[in-house]
Amino acid sequence: MKVVLVNGSRREKGCTFTALEVISKTLNERGVETQIFHVGEKAVNGEMNEVVKEVADAIKGADGFIVGSPVYYASPSGEVVAFLDRLFGVAEADLRFKPAAAIASARRAGTTATLDVLNKYFLYNQMPVVSSRYWSMVHGNKPEEVLQDKEGVQIMETIGKNMAWLLKSIEAGKAAGVPQPEAEQKVFTNFIR
Ligand SMILES: Cc1cc2nc3c(=O)[nH]c(=O)nc-3n(C[C@H](O)[C@H](O)[C@H](O)COP(=O)(O)O)c2cc1C
Repeated sequence: MKVVLVNGSRREKGCTFTALEVISKTLNERGVETQIFHVGEKAVNGEMNEVVKEVADAIKGADGFIVGSPVYYASPSGEVVAFLDRLFGVAEADLRFKPAAAIASARRAGTTATLDVLNKYFLYNQMPVVSSRYWSMVHGNKPEEVLQDKEGVQIMETIGKNMAWLLKSIEAGKAAGVPQPEAEQKVFTNFIR
């Protein structure tokens, strides 16, 4: 069982990464493998195609997906939005039905607006959204501040626990013969005709 985690910050080892690492450790403790990708910087320095392909390939063999973003101007980073727009274009079918979670890291405010944007990618694509015991956020400007946010750390651990539980439940369901819903042919109307 494997979960792919995406760090949408420009800072490779900043606050978002620190929060993702807490989730990753919680998953690992429950026997779930993890792989963290740093996409933030790559999405704007000419490596977008490469990083989208890299993550899309990893998703084929993964069972769950987690995306983390810092809050920039009360929204997700432009980098992560550009990346997700591309990723969902090419990997929509491989992401469908896989449990997903979004997390946000902020110094102070804009977290719920950020989570709203990120969760919409999952809700559009029939992905069960893994929740926590509060909105999935941590607070801090530096990694060590995130670790001082004890409530935020617990919220991240709870996401890890809930994701592991859901993945195991889906596996048990498959073993018991519960079929995954079939992807239907989409009806597209555009309000013109
Ligand atoms: C361009 C920019 C805009 C930001 N806007 C906000 C904001 O609207 N609200 C907030 O609380 N923090 C804001 N911050 C602070 C970051 O969200 C915060 O420090 C976050 O934890 C950084 O995560 P990272 O270390 O993974 O990049 C901003 C930071 C940058 C660089």
